[in-house]
Amino acid sequence: MFSQIQYGGDYNPDQWDESVWLEDARLMREAGVNLVSLGIFSWAKLEPASGQYDFAWLDRVMDLMHAHGVRVDLATPTASPPPWLVKQSPEILPVTADGVTLWHGARRHYCPNSSVYRAHAARIATRLAEHARAHPALTLWHVDNEYGDHLAECFCERCTAAFRVWLEARYQNLDNLNRAWSTAFWSQHYREWAEIIPPRRAPASVNPTQKLDWQRFCSDSFLACFTEQAKILRELTPNIPVTTNFMHFFKSFDYWKWAAYEDIVSNDHYPDHSDPEWMITAAMACDLMRSLKQGEPWLLMEQAPSAVNWRGRNAPKRPGEMRLGSYQAVARGANGIMFFQWRASQGGDEKFHSGMVPHVGTNSRIWREVKQLGNELRTLDALTSSRVYADVAIVFDWENWWALELESKPSTDLKLVPRVRAFYRELYRRNLAVDFVRPDADLSRYRLALAPHLYLVNDASVENLKRYVAQGGVLLLNFFSGIVDENDRVRLGGYPAPFRDMLGIWVEEFVPLMKEESNSIVTDDEENFACAFWSEVIHIESAEVLARYLDDFVADQPALTRHQFGKGVSYYLGTELEHGGIAWLMDRLCAEAKIQTRAAPRGVELMTRADDTRQWLFALNFSDVETEIPLDGIGIELLENKTVNGQLNLPARGVAVVMVPRT
Ligand code: GLA
Ligand code: ZN
Repeated sequence: MFSQIQYGGDYNPDQWDESVWLEDARLMREAGVNLVSLGIFSWAKLEPASGQYDFAWLDRVMDLMHAHGVRVDLATPTASPPPWLVKQSPEILPVTADGVTLWHGARRHYCPNSSVYRAHAARIATRLAEHARAHPALTLWHVDNEYGDHLAECFCERCTAAFRVWLEARYQNLDNLNRAWSTAFWSQHYREWAEIIPPRRAPASVNPTQKLDWQRFCSDSFLACFTEQAKILRELTPNIPVTTNFMHFFKSFDYWKWAAYEDIVSNDHYPDHSDPEWMITAAMACDLMRSLKQGEPWLLMEQAPSAVNWRGRNAPKRPGEMRLGSYQAVARGANGIMFFQWRASQGGDEKFHSGMVPHVGTNSRIWREVKQLGNELRTLDALTSSRVYADVAIVFDWENWWALELESKPSTDLKLVPRVRAFYRELYRRNLAVDFVRPDADLSRYRLALAPHLYLVNDASVENLKRYVAQGGVLLLNFFSGIVDENDRVRLGGYPAPFRDMLGIWVEEFVPLMKEESNSIVTDDEENFACAFWSEVIHIESAEVLARYLDDFVADQPALTRHQFGKGVSYYLGTELEHGGIAWLMDRLCAEAKIQTRAAPRGVELMTRADDTRQWLFALNFSDVETEIPLDGIGIELLENKTVNGQLNLPARGVAVVMVPRT
């Protein structure tokens, strides 16, 4: 889609006097900016009163951008309805589970099922597109902003009515719904659709399937807001791609479903740089974004040039870290590096959020780093058609995420993303690219697949995972997987019932451990590892035991198993291992799957993008010490434009991108 690496950020000229704009444009050019996201929160300026539009200022900005070689990612301004709209139609405001109305004065104060809001949003999007469609700077549509941020559900009467319609489409009749929702429990049987309400505040835990369907419905409700606008924009500007900015592992919305409606995936990411492992969190987000459209290039739509304003204490990015994080995104498939925001605000809630142009102006470290990066990225334009290729897949599913983290479980501390991250961390340390995949995706191109805590799994996905193993794949499942169907009803017959034959085991009983409790395992090669959080009573049918517990009433019983199934092998891990144990297991799995891992000095990340004829090796040194990396043969280091042969020198916090022809 882009033949250049995109570079720029959110541009909010409407916060500034026009006299500043020319300097903005000049500085953008100086910093190598070629794309800005414009007008994201400009509704009140674009439509100052109902039905009265003012596009003149927008034209002046877009002309100025065009004259300076900067293209425009134009936003529909629908993330923050103007005060006049609330005054005129207060029913657009969202309502919480407790029945409290949320007012304007911040942003994102709208109900996704308000037909009044939706009509106004469609109208401003239409007018904007009609007006801007012929502008030569228009390059991309940025619909709304971070759907679901701050507010991902609304419990008002309109949403209640829409929920009933959504349920009727899913279940056709109440018998089906009553069965799926297990309403025989606690006298919840429904006789009329009108009796059904959202999971409002109630005396005790609300029906889990009702909640699960509510999450599906909320994701679909906001998705409808997006697709409605996307349709308008595609009709008026068929050649301009459409995106909406995601928030990577954002629980509320099923991004698999959403991404299908985007022309390009874009993401906003603000890893906490006070965490020494921020780069692992960031890498995982990048890999998810690349995966949402099966490897297609994506955009890092927003990152902070340095600190954010919304944590308790806001760590700046230390010198070199912004650059490292940016190259990491490119290495993992991004074709654009953008920021929030161009010029740090003078007033408003985000005035202490870093900007590409800080309050102090260009005599600043942040500006120098921004300018250096923008100019360097030009040397990488040739790689925009390349891709990242992964041998390892992690199965990740939003419906499972929702169901797993509903209350009333053997342990409510079982949270999906941190546990996915524990496995991901070991893959990261082995410099392996990881694709995230849906449980029903074709896995045949992967040597190894991990499906952590796949608690909820439908029949099609069960069949898919088994087919993958039967045809030669290596698959790891772990505890509390294969437990319920898509309605959160337990699959009976010995856990994990649908995978019993594939795993060659069955689980009789869960034994979650309390915070202060732990256990250990001893492996078949006599290693010892601590484990915690969870253990189980596992019975062997035809699997072999790779590790056993040492303590508690599960002592000597299996903790880790391996089973040949068809042409492939499945593993099952019944506990949570400390890092060393996961590392040991990952070595086993990689050996089983014949995966070549790439060693690198501590703190160095290696990643490769490739096209048909060339490959680009990214070497990122997150550590504070200079280091050397062995290289196979000769290549050209692009950032410094020099030939490298046999080895690569990487300064502390340094980056190198080496291009080598493919043989
Ligand atoms: C989000 C929003 C931006 C801004 C930044 C601040 O990503 O999209 O408008 O609020 O956060 O970090
Ligand atoms: Zn509502």
